[in-house]
Amino acid sequence: MNTLRTLEVSLGTRSYPIWIGDGLLDDAACWRGAIGGRHVLVVSNTTVAPLYLARVEAALGGLHHASLLLPDGEAHKTLERTGEVFAALARLGASRDATILALGGGVIGDLAGFAAACWMRGIDFVQMPTTLLAMVDSSVGGKTGVNLPAGKNLVGAFHQPRAVVADTSTLATLPPREYRAGLAEVVKYGAIADPEFFFWLEQRVDALNARNGQTLGEAIERSCASKAAIVARDEHELGERALLNFGHTFGHALETVAGYGTLLHGEAVAIGMLQAARLSSLLGRAPAE
Ligand code: NAD
Ligand code: GLY
Repeated sequence: MNTLRTLEVSLGTRSYPIWIGDGLLDDAACWRGAIGGRHVLVVSNTTVAPLYLARVEAALGGLHHASLLLPDGEAHKTLERTGEVFAALARLGASRDATILALGGGVIGDLAGFAAACWMRGIDFVQMPTTLLAMVDSSVGGKTGVNLPAGKNLVGAFHQPRAVVADTSTLATLPPREYRAGLAEVVKYGAIADPEFFFWLEQRVDALNARNGQTLGEAIERSCASKAAIVARDEHELGERALLNFGHTFGHALETVAGYGTLLHGEAVAIGMLQAARLSSLLGRAPAE
């Protein structure tokens, strides 16, 4: 799949592009323009960096950049690890025109985005999602944050990225369980907003399971378009954006009770969507079918 798909999250002067395509990490011409200043910190983890960091660093020639690799996993989406990002920014001499590149899944995107929201009261960041879940959900919409022992995402900020660079070729190395967890968030868009998309997905189960590039690219594009439209209408979740949390109330409870990292986020959301639908049906608010 070599199609470059371009969408926009329309938020006035803070509008930003979502680029979706194979090989985008190497295509500096596409995304270098989203970096405004001289200093760049790439934040990634010890699983993703060996696979993809060199490609991003190669595209950063001429800029003063450094990389910070955090340990992998939801258990590290913490204030303590966010402090490591601040320390790395300080070592880099990062000023207010610095940019953070978040290279990884939703854990890295949420944490690095939160660090960007805090450093000198807010600097630019670019989302470079490498999981399906991050491509269709967490990298878009500006929700950033970390977990506390008391619960998930309890500390955070709305801070929109300057761009989302979704290189779909990175999905080839994603473990099958992570890939399926991401598909749950794709199905969510069909369930909350787009019955025709739900039907489209039902007809393409085999192609999606086989990670067919064309089908996957279209599924990511349609998911991002759905999310971008909702975020543009309700950035701070005063109403409609709560739709995006379908399945998440049950899901977050399951994740917390099971212990972070036991259930994958997308798995918890998949179970949560079923539970929410069953509850609605039991309350007589939605037909069982
Ligand atoms: P993750 O970031 O933990 O990534 C999943 C696993 O895949 C990790 O082990 C990671 O190292 C590995 N990985 C990532 N890319 C890879 C690749 N290309 N090849 C091989 N391995 C790869 O999990 P996730 O599912 O991406 O994100 C879940 C997080 O996102 C949760 O913390 C959740 O709360 C958050 N989230 C945030 C939003 C939001 O709007 N901000 C929305 C949904 C979820
Ligand atoms: N993932 C829910 C939201 O972005 O609002």
